[in-house]
Amino acid sequence: MTDLAARFRQLWDKIAPVGRDAGSGGYLRYALTDAELRLRQWFREQADRRGMPVTADGNGNLFAWWGDPGAGDAVLTGSHFDSVPHGGAYDGPLGIVSAFLAVDELRAAGVAPVRSVAVAAFVEEEGARFGVPCLGSRLLTGEIAVDRAAGLRDAAGVSFADALGDRPAGADPGLTGRFTAFVELHVEQGRALVETDAPVAVASAIWPHGRWRFDFHGEGNHAGTTRMADRRDPMLTYAFTVLAANKEARLRGAHATVGRVAVEPNATNAIPSKVTGWLDARAAEPDTLRGLVEAVHAKAAERARRDGTGLTLTEESATPLVAFDGGLGGRLAALLDAPVLPTGAGHDAGVLAAHLPTAMLFVRNPTGVSHSPAESATDADCAAGVSALARVLEELACR
Ligand code: GLV
Ligand code: MN
Ligand code: MN
Repeated sequence: MTDLAARFRQLWDKIAPVGRDAGSGGYLRYALTDAELRLRQWFREQADRRGMPVTADGNGNLFAWWGDPGAGDAVLTGSHFDSVPHGGAYDGPLGIVSAFLAVDELRAAGVAPVRSVAVAAFVEEEGARFGVPCLGSRLLTGEIAVDRAAGLRDAAGVSFADALGDRPAGADPGLTGRFTAFVELHVEQGRALVETDAPVAVASAIWPHGRWRFDFHGEGNHAGTTRMADRRDPMLTYAFTVLAANKEARLRGAHATVGRVAVEPNATNAIPSKVTGWLDARAAEPDTLRGLVEAVHAKAAERARRDGTGLTLTEESATPLVAFDGGLGGRLAALLDAPVLPTGAGHDAGVLAAHLPTAMLFVRNPTGVSHSPAESATDADCAAGVSALARVLEELACR
């Protein structure tokens, strides 16, 4: 094991137990809950150890600064701590741990920043607690209204404002305007690098994607006594819609997933009165995505008519196509001699890309699996990611 891989493992082991579920081996690190708050505390300690002052933007996002926090032309890196339910260890935290280690590498090499470097920990990137992904970066950039964000509620009814302890501060153009670039390092969420010699890639684009909530209303009734012909069962409309989403996505070369469902009253011997399913849909082109969601909606509505159920559709979040800054991405790909890949996954980098030159580095994932405990990366590849990020920060902030 190289020194850097050993240093990576040492730091990684400090956070590895935080929020890990003993049963699944996955992580329950929801935004602003105990596990994530412990990681935020760890972030402050790591920054402190390195003499990096930490600032907060009032939206739940933290920034640790190597250099003057007030100076312009700063370079931003970092990622998020929060996870999906039973998510992998790397999605998010790898970008933050790697950023601290990249700063260590540059310092050890005697490299000093000409421009400040900020390491960010963005809040609620997954949207697993409050429903809207990249909530922190959307707030910071003004991509979501403060009132809407403040009022988002988790499953227990706690609002984002209450979890944050305050009304979110909203857009801070003074802060975003101080950054000349954002580079987010992230674990790869597919198998594109597995068969290659490259441990690190540069992102070209993020597919447009979003979340749509389908509420199917019916009539709750007794499972044993209600004649089949008399039922208004929203579970049927829901089930048909899931199959329709899969078919419509396949027809278009797009992705559609219903990974979350809520049933009322959720009893084995009762016909449900209401079923809610969340559709996550993604496609390479915005028109394809729009066509997909419209087709699924049309099929669901037609089926609801036949089932005697009601349907309401709500768009909970939408992220447009992100084409990362070609100049910056090309420069980094040349610097690192790295392949360039698109992704279907969403990231804070995708939100910030509309506001400043942004790029992403992906670290090889031998399983290709993500949003699951099976997500992985070798220590050697993580060390390669740190080295790559250090070279990028040297290029962008130290010359
Ligand atoms: C975030 O990881 C997303 O792509 O949903
Ligand atoms: Mn994720
Ligand atoms: Mn992520």
